[in-house]
Amino acid sequence: MAKFFYLETFGCQMNVVDSEQIVDLLGRVGYQQVDTPEEAGLILLNTCSVRDKAERKVYGHLGRFKPLKDQRPELIIGVGGCVAQQEGEKLLEKLRYVDLVFGTHNIHRLPEMLAGVEQEGRRRLETEFLDADTRRALFPERSVSDAVTRFVTIMQGCDNFCSYCIVPHVRGREISRASGEILAEIRDLTARGVKEVTLLGQNVNSYGLREAGEMSFAQLLHAVHEIDGIERIRFTTSHPKDLSAELIACFGGLPKLAKHLHLPVQCGADPVLAAMNRGYTRAQYLEKVAQLKEVCPEIRLTSDVIVGFPGETEADFGETLALVEAVRYADIYSFLYSPRQGTAAAELAETLDPKDKQARFDRLLEVQQRISGEIWQGDVGRVLPVLVEGASRQGGAQLFGRTTWNRIVNFAGPAELIGRVVSVRITTALKNSQIGELEMDEVRAAS
Ligand code: SAH
Ligand code: SF4
Ligand code: F3S
Repeated sequence: MAKFFYLETFGCQMNVVDSEQIVDLLGRVGYQQVDTPEEAGLILLNTCSVRDKAERKVYGHLGRFKPLKDQRPELIIGVGGCVAQQEGEKLLEKLRYVDLVFGTHNIHRLPEMLAGVEQEGRRRLETEFLDADTRRALFPERSVSDAVTRFVTIMQGCDNFCSYCIVPHVRGREISRASGEILAEIRDLTARGVKEVTLLGQNVNSYGLREAGEMSFAQLLHAVHEIDGIERIRFTTSHPKDLSAELIACFGGLPKLAKHLHLPVQCGADPVLAAMNRGYTRAQYLEKVAQLKEVCPEIRLTSDVIVGFPGETEADFGETLALVEAVRYADIYSFLYSPRQGTAAAELAETLDPKDKQARFDRLLEVQQRISGEIWQGDVGRVLPVLVEGASRQGGAQLFGRTTWNRIVNFAGPAELIGRVVSVRITTALKNSQIGELEMDEVRAAS
């Protein structure tokens, strides 16, 4: 008999990839995915605990499922991901209607855990961290969809321990996947029509550094670049301290490498960067940005910024604003500092009241919105290469794809273009996407 599961994913791309693995594992034991919790016999949440707000959202969502469990006691509810890793036993104690808690290293155990709940009705918890060799053997093999663009995990975990960050605590130590395996997966993907890969890890720039004899990240990029059928390469996330000269040079020397880099700065003031344990100074960061722009003048940078870290003064914040103006990021993701239990910064007293923190946040947003507007508006009238990813959500004969800068462009065109790089004239810049028109010779070539 078919069994049905409903899965919701929060957080970063790591969780997105982990959820793909969950879908794959459950498919092998006879479960089919459905779109609403009401239809499902199994409900799973893959959770994020990076900020308090993200964590509260998980509890809010779980609360929604309680009435379903009251109506259907046989319903199985499971929680995985970073909140599960952090809370473990506490989650089972607090929420009596949760049956299953699995940590970030335990996803592969899901089918067995599930069988235990189904057959014995026992609530199950598995959140232990595994050693590096075991984890390396468990890098997810996911079944492949017909997507044009895919994430490929190249490393997991993080050893940086930025003082505010929960990730090293919930994802464990950093490990790199064998380069041979990564390249084999990408070759396999190209055989199935994938044109773009995003190499994924919390800190891809330190890829291979901890494994004897392994390639550096820049060498890995060169090797991926050699693979026929790959049109575009992206990677995320980069830590500025590990952005090597060799890697910067890739932006000048590898034409398939997208001219976009997400390079989170977090703050523009040295005392705060030091308290955050980021391992670079403002000047070092700006120097790397200058080198990137020199080897690749068209490069566009994006960033993460935390506002209101303990001890951040008005002058410190002013330095962040000035840095944002100087770098001219295409976009930034800004966050209000949120103390996370178990991190070093959680021991520091907060020095800003929430109103002042929000006011700084709003000022930063205003500056960035102006800069982003100028940059994306500047594309209007230009003809840009767009990798066509699929039919756009707007429906009709609308397609969508991305420019090298990772901006979504919607435009009219035939479905045959999916998977191809086409020339699109940008006509309108919206807040998060652009609208364009296919160049006429592309239309002729497709017909
Ligand atoms: N490994 C990635 C992503 C980490 S989480 C990286 O190093 O860039 C994504 C972003 O969340 C971080 O870059 C940071 O800006 C933000 N973040 C992490 N912990 C936070 C906290 N405690 N409060 C507010 N923002 C936080
Ligand atoms: Fe968190 Fe820092 Fe690691 Fe990024 S590099 S995941 S911010 S500890
Ligand atoms: Fe969130 Fe875990 Fe990613 S805490 S940001 S889902 S690594």
